[in-house]
Amino acid sequence: MTERPLSDSIEAVRRRFGGDLTIVGHHYQAEEVIRHTDLRGDSLELARKCAALDSRWIMFCGVYFMAESAALLARPGCEVHLPEPSAECSMAMMSPAPLLDAVLGKLSATGRKIVPLAYVNSTLAVKAVVGRHGGSVCTSANAVTMLRWALGRGDAVLFLPDKNLGRNTADRLGIPQRECHVLNIREQGGRIDQDVADRAKLLLWPGFCSIHTRFAVRQVERLRAENPGARVVAHPECTPEVVAAADAAGSTSFIIRYADEMPDGGTLVIGTEINLVERLAEQHRHRLHILPLVESACTHMAQTTEERLAEALDALAESADMGKASPFLVRIDDDLTIPARKALECMLAVCS
Ligand code: 13P
Ligand code: SF4
Repeated sequence: MTERPLSDSIEAVRRRFGGDLTIVGHHYQAEEVIRHTDLRGDSLELARKCAALDSRWIMFCGVYFMAESAALLARPGCEVHLPEPSAECSMAMMSPAPLLDAVLGKLSATGRKIVPLAYVNSTLAVKAVVGRHGGSVCTSANAVTMLRWALGRGDAVLFLPDKNLGRNTADRLGIPQRECHVLNIREQGGRIDQDVADRAKLLLWPGFCSIHTRFAVRQVERLRAENPGARVVAHPECTPEVVAAADAAGSTSFIIRYADEMPDGGTLVIGTEINLVERLAEQHRHRLHILPLVESACTHMAQTTEERLAEALDALAESADMGKASPFLVRIDDDLTIPARKALECMLAVCS
């Protein structure tokens, strides 16, 4: 007996649920997954779009923190499912909530008002800590607006977990290096240099994305030498040195627009996750030469495959028939809902 192709099984569930089901995906998803999506976007767009959906079910193809944000913002009665529940973002894991709480306590002990600003690539528990401390969430698409907002609300901002996005955003706002300080978070904050921290305007958590920190200035220089006239665009999770060497930097949607606006016949070097770079290279193959700064793949995003998507959709159909919860359902801890939603909604309100 021949097995039914995965795409047929995905389409069968989609037909059955119609508008009650929306499959969404982040730009870093592989082609075999993204071709099944109804909606795609960067983190900010996906958060906004999921909040506005009328569907009964959202199948979220991305990493855990994105699905959690969607679940927090989704309309009451809308369930969010993640095809691969173990798909965590390694950067989001670099700022555990209890440690953030301890560090905030230490930084505030001298009476300074520290406003936490969490990159959306963080856990729900971290967003809840941030909400309880009067802070907000940001994404790579609105980090400049949100950092400006946070700086106006206290004596200093604690930006977490990505020190590179924090530093790159500070550069965009003209905040000098001497006013920024990367914290030593070892020993529950016991190693923080309090004198230096007390003088800093922007305190940076020492997290990073291992996919984007693979890019180096020497690669930018080599590709420019090999492709005279090439433009270079990078994601702001890259190091400040790489961002400074590039022509432009911005979120995944910014990068897509940048490629769209390139004049015909040009060469574009892109410093971000390889699935997006390859998709853009294919899409613009008749008019642009697009190449990756380095082939760098996010293994967390890659955990979601067409097979897992088909499995999660089958489980959703079965759970609807049986009246029981699917193992792919994203569950939100009730204690965290209110403060974490407050931090996320603050971002949406400031950037409306
Ligand atoms: P965007 O918000 O730019 O899509 O980025 C998300 C991400 O995880 C980048 O590594
Ligand atoms: Fe996380 Fe980096 Fe993967 Fe984005 S590319 S999901 S920041 S590990």
